[in-house]
Amino acid sequence: MERIISLKNTLAELLSDALGLDSKHLESMDCMKTATLLCHYYPPCPEPDLTLGATKHSDPSFLTILLQDSIGGLQVFQNGQWVDVKPVKGALIVNIGDLMQLVSNDKFKSVEHRVLAAPIGPRISSACFFYPSTANHCKPYGPIKELISEECGPIYRETTHKEYMSCYRSKGLDGTSCLSYFKL
Ligand code: OGA
Ligand code: NI
Repeated sequence: MERIISLKNTLAELLSDALGLDSKHLESMDCMKTATLLCHYYPPCPEPDLTLGATKHSDPSFLTILLQDSIGGLQVFQNGQWVDVKPVKGALIVNIGDLMQLVSNDKFKSVEHRVLAAPIGPRISSACFFYPSTANHCKPYGPIKELISEECGPIYRETTHKEYMSCYRSKGLDGTSCLSYFKL
């Protein structure tokens, strides 16, 4: 966890730079202080064509750092088609989450992904989701004001981590994003 958190801090600086902001900007927003580690166990599936390991979704976090094993099966939806994320030994996968898309005012896009079922396994993965600290569960986050201009106004209204999660949970994994509910 120490290494993952240190990687997240480096990524927060690089992502701030990429947005043209001060490199400490994302850190100062306290949007990625809580790390939640979720481990998945996908048993071998006798009929993989009839189901999925995980249905299409984007993560409701700001950022996710994922480790998958050598079985594979993770796919991202890009330009209207599913693309395999082939396992690379020692490599981590970094997903932009929905809330990062919201605060970046669509400069960054959260990635839609899914996991195929496999006849071999079990497949094991661990995902570390980064959220605001518990003290800031009710802090409103909206598009960063430096990223708003006359040509490009705010695309989303403000929301809190708590509100976003309750929208995500109540909707279920139906393949659609919650972000549309927060569009202005
Ligand atoms: C997730 C997720 C992918 C995987 O936990 O949100 O997308 O490879 N996991 O298990
Ligand atoms: Ni995910």
